[in-house]
Amino acid sequence: MFVADYIVAGPADLTLIDLWRNEPAPLLPLLHAFHDRDGYITDQAISAIGKEMRIPLADLYGTVTFYHHFAREAPGQASPRVCTGPVCCQRGSQAILESLPGATAMACAGRCDDPVPVLIGHETFVAKGPGQLERRAASPLPAPNPGGVEECAFRHIREIDRATLDGYRRTGGYAGLTKAVTEMIPTDVIETVRESKLAGRGGAGFPTGVKWQGVADAPNGPKTIVCNADEGEPGCFKDRALMDYDPFAVLEGMTIAAYATGATRGFLYLRYEYPETHDRLAGAIAAAEEAGFLGDNILGSDFNFHIYLRRGGGAYICGEEGALLNSLEGKHPFPRNRPPYPVTHGYDDLPTAVNNVETLASVPQILRKGGEWYRGLGLGEHAGTKLISLSGDVQRPGNYEVPFGLPLKTLLFDWAGGPLSGRTIQAITMAGISGGFLAGDALETLTLDEASARSHGSMLGAAGMMAFDDSRDIVEVARVGMEFFAHESCGKCFPCRIGTQRLAERLAGTAGPDDIALWTGEVYEIGGVMKAISACGLGMAAPLLAESLVRFFPEQVERHVAGI
Ligand SMILES: Cc1cc2nc3c(=O)[nH]c(=O)nc-3n(C[C@H](O)[C@H](O)[C@H](O)COP(=O)(O)O)c2cc1C
Ligand code: SF4
Repeated sequence: MFVADYIVAGPADLTLIDLWRNEPAPLLPLLHAFHDRDGYITDQAISAIGKEMRIPLADLYGTVTFYHHFAREAPGQASPRVCTGPVCCQRGSQAILESLPGATAMACAGRCDDPVPVLIGHETFVAKGPGQLERRAASPLPAPNPGGVEECAFRHIREIDRATLDGYRRTGGYAGLTKAVTEMIPTDVIETVRESKLAGRGGAGFPTGVKWQGVADAPNGPKTIVCNADEGEPGCFKDRALMDYDPFAVLEGMTIAAYATGATRGFLYLRYEYPETHDRLAGAIAAAEEAGFLGDNILGSDFNFHIYLRRGGGAYICGEEGALLNSLEGKHPFPRNRPPYPVTHGYDDLPTAVNNVETLASVPQILRKGGEWYRGLGLGEHAGTKLISLSGDVQRPGNYEVPFGLPLKTLLFDWAGGPLSGRTIQAITMAGISGGFLAGDALETLTLDEASARSHGSMLGAAGMMAFDDSRDIVEVARVGMEFFAHESCGKCFPCRIGTQRLAERLAGTAGPDDIALWTGEVYEIGGVMKAISACGLGMAAPLLAESLVRFFPEQVERHVAGI
């Protein structure tokens, strides 16, 4: 199709477009609507959307083809997509992919505790091997905390019917919002969150109270709350558990954030690969609206707040807040240059709080029980708790809520049961894969908090951890991770666009010198440039995987390089 070739939209196209044209953030839902109707995005759909929504065809074409989920030809949506994330690769995803006619690979689908996920249309299956597909509507329920440690985000998640509005209310749900709206002014709410020392759980760890204060203080409006439910980091699946089993806690957290900041609209940006979670959230939003917990005159007050659910298009970079905001606005989802920050120039260039699912789901408990209570849940000087998604070669993979400061070995060995029989854990990945590997003594000495992770040259981030035992080829694990970064680099800046490719080639053994000193020097040189001048966290973090491999596994790297 050429840019000048507008194809005349048919009446059915216009009907579909009319459904969304006046809604906020309409492009993604429109693309999904056409994709669902036709099975892929046709030239006619691009033409009709471009013309009716006044988006230049070339821009729209670039945006549509950027998202991995949107197919451009048949069989498109109907063909199976098989997860090829780091854990699934070790569980035979390649053989499963080859056994399914027309199947294509998909980046980590956030089910590392129940591999190997296969998406067909809007249904999730899990394959234990070729020809062994089973439907999976919900994620595994997080197991009771084996340490008996007090929880916040998972405090009520195992209660019966917690995912229904009745069940939620029966177990203390909406007490936090009711207290906020009927007993507190917005500044008090922000003060309670500040006192709790709650910090962003999406990876960057920015203090939530400070962020909310920034939005509350910013002039202009309407103000917006965005719940970042993109959860694309390999090895992370905690937000999915919260949304599947405690969806009203996420909505209540968003609503409290709106009350505190003066926001009147909210977006819940959910990764595409969670279709069943999408349906649960849509049902929860409708139920909350009907019961007066969302919409106009919430709880009989003059406070109005509406939440719009939006599905992503399968691009990891859309978890980065600037890219997410561009994606919502229907622009090409590149990260934005900062400053200005979203607190003053977010959605539609207006004040916006972007918060992670876990951050928001923790807020109702903090309002109910107080900032001091939450702060006291951490060990020593650490405040609060963190959900950890632990997967790979441990006896009991799953999501665990830990007090900040808990020794890693307690989680790995006491809570998760340690390695599989006859094996030892040779490495874990940190921050999904963005924190690289930890191995050796670090497995003994690390405590689960950002300061300890940094002192080991890593980071806790969103706290996905994948364990790999001594049966695994650790260079191959690093290759899979780096190819993920290379695939997901948005290409906006060259150090990341080219650097991730060059590192992936070296880890695949398809490029680079066969001399270990030269090979290592190149890896550090490429990584150094990436860390210094990449425009967002993807390019800054990606080198850690290669560098930590060199640091912890010199013999394996030497064997790999000798084979080039
Ligand atoms: C490449 C990249 C991917 C990210 N993906 C996510 C994500 O999936 N979910 C998330 O909450 N934050 C993600 N973040 C962090 C967000 O940019 C942002 O810091 C976060 O949503 C803010 O919420 P919080 O303060 O509650 O953590 C990502 C950052 C980068 C650089
Ligand atoms: S660092 Fe990578 S992902 Fe981030 S803006 Fe640059 S090219 Fe895009």
